[in-house]
Amino acid sequence: MKNSNIEHLTPKEIVSYLDKYVIDQDDAKKTIAVALRNRYRRMQLPEELQKDIVPKNILMIGSTGVGKTEIARRLAQMMQLPFIKVEASKYTEVGFVGRDVESMIRDLANIGLQLTRESENEKNREKIDQYVEDKILEKLLPPLPDGANEQKKEEYAHTLEKMRQKFRNGEMDDLKISIEMPPSSSISGMDDMLPPQMISVQESIVKVLGGVNKKGPVREITVKEAKKVLQNEASNFILDEDEIKALALEKVEKGSIVFIDEIDKIAVSSSSSSRQDPSKEGVQRDLLPIVEGSTVNTKIGMVKTDHILFIAAGAFHVSKPSDLLPELQGRFPLRVELNGLNEDVLYRILTEPENSLIKQYQALLGVEGMKLIFDDEALKAMAHYAFLANEKSEDIGARRLHTIIEKVLEDISFEADEYKGKEVVISSDDVTQKVADIVKDEDATNYIL
Ligand SMILES: Nc1ncnc2c1ncn2[C@@H]1O[C@H](COP(=O)(O)OP(=O)(O)OP(=O)(O)O)[C@@H](O)[C@H]1O
Ligand SMILES: [Mg+2]
Repeated sequence: MKNSNIEHLTPKEIVSYLDKYVIDQDDAKKTIAVALRNRYRRMQLPEELQKDIVPKNILMIGSTGVGKTEIARRLAQMMQLPFIKVEASKYTEVGFVGRDVESMIRDLANIGLQLTRESENEKNREKIDQYVEDKILEKLLPPLPDGANEQKKEEYAHTLEKMRQKFRNGEMDDLKISIEMPPSSSISGMDDMLPPQMISVQESIVKVLGGVNKKGPVREITVKEAKKVLQNEASNFILDEDEIKALALEKVEKGSIVFIDEIDKIAVSSSSSSRQDPSKEGVQRDLLPIVEGSTVNTKIGMVKTDHILFIAAGAFHVSKPSDLLPELQGRFPLRVELNGLNEDVLYRILTEPENSLIKQYQALLGVEGMKLIFDDEALKAMAHYAFLANEKSEDIGARRLHTIIEKVLEDISFEADEYKGKEVVISSDDVTQKVADIVKDEDATNYIL
């Protein structure tokens, strides 16, 4: 799906992409697909109307391990849009020690910047490659002095061409050359710790220092390594940083998604009598303006959050969506519930997704030279026991499959070396023998599975 811009995908196409990885949960997939498409629709409208159409944020409700984060993760993979997934419980109220909520937008801005830089690099790939090639060839074959005669010049041009061919074929990769490394960037590694007001100050410092101390240390490295080092240099040289920032700003403001996981953890449950953490409500209050639309100072400039799509997700076991501040509830008008996983869905999760659990284990043990085969009855049995275990003790959704499969394969994993070059077939009896007793006994289930 690379290179095809998600903005041009229809909701059906988005859903069918998600179908490859996430089983069931059709409502959630549809809602998200429509929300993304609505953004594209909005962009086609006259500007005044655009301003008034704000994205409808989504609240995903579903118990643990049913695919909430998985949907977001797959979306992120598919999209070439700035996307960030954050945990609501990681933030603290402004004024307290910890990360404030606004920092999620600053992180998002950094992601947008990175993404834009990559796509601009890609667009200018030829120029960048040319720059790198010229630089390296210059090192390998220093230019002639000014007064060289015609014959020398001809010879030089000839050798250079030969070198160029060799370089392009990768024949030069192991040669060593000395290259000026980029000036140390230790200062710019502190981004995260600096308050936003400091970022621009910090950047000017780097610029000033860079002006004085433009040259980094000279190192002997291979041509192959030099290519990487020079690619950065080339992109800094060819691309205009301000332009990239402007592009990134536009991308972030108009097309980004913030996925706020564990939102139920900052809800203050009214029914619970235990003492609640008052700062949770503070975090909710800090979230309000960001979700509603405010301006956050970031590395790429002032980011308006009005048109960022927010997707919040939570299990809401202890608390309910109505335990969130009413203002915050109102800002997530689209609600989707994710279904619990029944036996059939669990079976499909084992087998259908592109990189399903079964395929993962087969690949892992394949490294040991053994061929692992599950017969279909064995897969059904695993789904069956996973379902039972979920019913008997805590429902942990598809994560139960991990524990079951680990249990089933525990001996084989350990003795894999003995099966080198052999085929091992797991039957339903093997599964029953390994996990049936444990599932029957609730205590054992609680501890072992
Ligand atoms: N519907 C599904 N289809 C495919 N895989 C799934 C599905 N649901 C869960 N899984 C698998 O189970 C694991 C846990 O799922 P996920 O991280 O999405 O849980 P969650 O809903 O976010 O739960 P939590 O509330 O605990 O964060 C993932 O590794 C994922 O591969
Ligand atoms: Mg999750």
